[in-house]
Amino acid sequence: MPGTNRREFLTGSLASLGAVGIRYPTWALSTAPVASNSSPDQLLLGVDYYPDQTPEALWEEDARMIAEVGFTNVRIAEFAWALMEPVEGKFEFDWLHRAVQTLHKHNISVILGTPSAAPPPWLTVHYPEVVEVNAQGMRLRPGGRRFTCPTNQTYRRLSLAIASEMARTFAETPGVIGWQIDNELTLGSSPRCYCNFCQAGFQAWLHTKYGSLENLNRSWGTVFWSQTYTDFSQVPVPLPSGADANPGLALDYDRYQSYANSSFLEEQLTVLRKLCPKHFVTTNNVGLPLDTIDMRSLYGKLDFVAFDNYPGFFDMILHQQGKPGSLMSDVIPATVALGHDFARSIHGNKPFMIMEEQSGKAGQSTFSPQPEKGQVRLWTYQAVAHGAMGVNYFRWDTATFGAEEYWHGMLNHDRSKSPAFEEIRQTVKELKALGPEVLKSPYLAEMALVFDYDCSWAVKIQPGHYALSYTDQVTAWYGAISPSRSGIDVIGFGDDFGKYKIVFAPVVYVLSDAAAARIRSFVQNGGVFVTNFRLAVKNESSQIVQTPLPGPLRDVMGVTVAEYGPIYSGKQGVKFSSVLSGPDGECGIWADVLQASRAEVLGTYTSGSSAGRPAGTMNSFGQGKAIYIGADLTPPSLSRVLQKLAESAGVKRPFEVPAGVDLTVRMAGDKQWIFLLNHGPKPQSINIPRAFKDLATGAAVRGEVPLDGYGVRVLQASQLSRKITADTHPA
Ligand code: GAL
Repeated sequence: MPGTNRREFLTGSLASLGAVGIRYPTWALSTAPVASNSSPDQLLLGVDYYPDQTPEALWEEDARMIAEVGFTNVRIAEFAWALMEPVEGKFEFDWLHRAVQTLHKHNISVILGTPSAAPPPWLTVHYPEVVEVNAQGMRLRPGGRRFTCPTNQTYRRLSLAIASEMARTFAETPGVIGWQIDNELTLGSSPRCYCNFCQAGFQAWLHTKYGSLENLNRSWGTVFWSQTYTDFSQVPVPLPSGADANPGLALDYDRYQSYANSSFLEEQLTVLRKLCPKHFVTTNNVGLPLDTIDMRSLYGKLDFVAFDNYPGFFDMILHQQGKPGSLMSDVIPATVALGHDFARSIHGNKPFMIMEEQSGKAGQSTFSPQPEKGQVRLWTYQAVAHGAMGVNYFRWDTATFGAEEYWHGMLNHDRSKSPAFEEIRQTVKELKALGPEVLKSPYLAEMALVFDYDCSWAVKIQPGHYALSYTDQVTAWYGAISPSRSGIDVIGFGDDFGKYKIVFAPVVYVLSDAAAARIRSFVQNGGVFVTNFRLAVKNESSQIVQTPLPGPLRDVMGVTVAEYGPIYSGKQGVKFSSVLSGPDGECGIWADVLQASRAEVLGTYTSGSSAGRPAGTMNSFGQGKAIYIGADLTPPSLSRVLQKLAESAGVKRPFEVPAGVDLTVRMAGDKQWIFLLNHGPKPQSINIPRAFKDLATGAAVRGEVPLDGYGVRVLQASQLSRKITADTHPA
């Protein structure tokens, strides 16, 4: 939708939603200003607590113990719909009041969750049509959670009713400080709903977007396979249909589903803003590399971003998928850091919160190992190092019933203290000592990595090579750009590129005119833009462009793509030259063969008919440089190349650290804090070239400094070293 902002789009969409009988969402009708931008003034160091699952006789003891750990808050009630509204329209909040009171008596503040992720049985029995239809066209069954349709107006009405009643009831209740809307909208067993309500919602959305059927038919190219629509009501959803769906339709369906979820959330947001103006409002999700909902839209009007983080669980899932290697000291820290950097970047470098942090063995039918001693503290600090201002641990006790009996919390099944209990208590004490100044300080990033939802969804629809995944590419680039996972913002094409020395953007398969213009002016004005194969193949309608590739960026990149294709059993290599001289590289699953019009060749292919032809180029354009890496470089050459390019763009770290150690910087005014995190079990030695103050001990540190296995150090720059690092890191 070039040139249309979300609000304009929504205003326009009201007419067509009404036309198909869809009730206008309350939030779209609201004229009240929304985004309040308030941040909590207190620290958010807490735990996810379930009074609804705990005998009331234990609440007092729980509250006392939670307070003794040093926690400031809990999050409660996000799955307690059946207790809060046992019968439709009959609300029972007395128990929740008593729970809040008990917690508040012990100085524990409360984040209330609205319960729409798990509707009670009465609801699905009365209204079976609210249940989601999956990608095979099968209606899910109630009995789990996150099984509802995001478009269905009955589900929306009932979700809004319970959220509104909660808001009215708890707006002035002492102790309540904020809200989590729903729970993990991004994560269900099937991420898209394909029911009739979604089909009608999709058709209305298309009507607004395209205005006319001619426009829609042209944009999708429906003449192919006789799919020309003569009425919006004929447009299907992409369910199995004998062959692949039209790619334009499929991409628009991803966009629609993302929109439907965001607008579902925003209905609740509008009510909470109106009824609880003193409270903050957020939601929680699994962050990147999960791409089911555009989180920039989802979080757009919320006060801050909150994500959930389960490194041990990721590790278990990756093992299950047969991924080899030293996951916990390498792949997992990078994947987690990518999620954290994205969380921070969504609101433009604003501190975020971890709403659920793994505290023990994690899993549902199977579970991950107990985190090693020091790992829970390490994961907590990793979040803070990358910009978190608060952390809640999941969960207080461990359920002895229900689908998550294996998800271990801070108390064991027998209510004894878990192995990480004392470590968490110590960590909370340390974070309080760091204080709000550190926890709320901005993060320092000179580099940016683009994550674009259109590219991610469009590559999933037509990968070109079965193994090509946009999220894998972005994750691999993230890990390769900086060995210490340092100084990278994760941005979209709508964000300001001008703040960065270098912007990396792999597999820009769908390129809008606006994105092309942003890249052009960034390079023109002195930026370094690094991209790779499949650049600008498609326009926003998911049609292949009719100009030679890379379409509108040919002059910026100084190349034309002469040939492109997947690589299966045949091997392809790359010989590097000029500024990238170094060991030969291997090409993985894709090769764009380039023809340099103006660009300098930095690498050539080594085999077959492409031997000797350009595999990588660098073009000077305006004041800046544009680098095209045509080959899908595998590690280690991808790391070497991306790091070399960052270095030549002038990116510098305060000092180097060994592999497996994170180094990140947060900065406020003239103060700077360096976080060193060792993700491996073995002690490391860090060479610190200038004097810093170690915040844990208060001692000055310099020279060879030990970092324990899973160890953490927070260093504060002294005046002198701050000046030196500030010179290399302009704020
Ligand atoms: C999160 C979810 C929680 C709980 C936790 C452990 O993804 O938000 O409700 O399920 O995982 O499974």
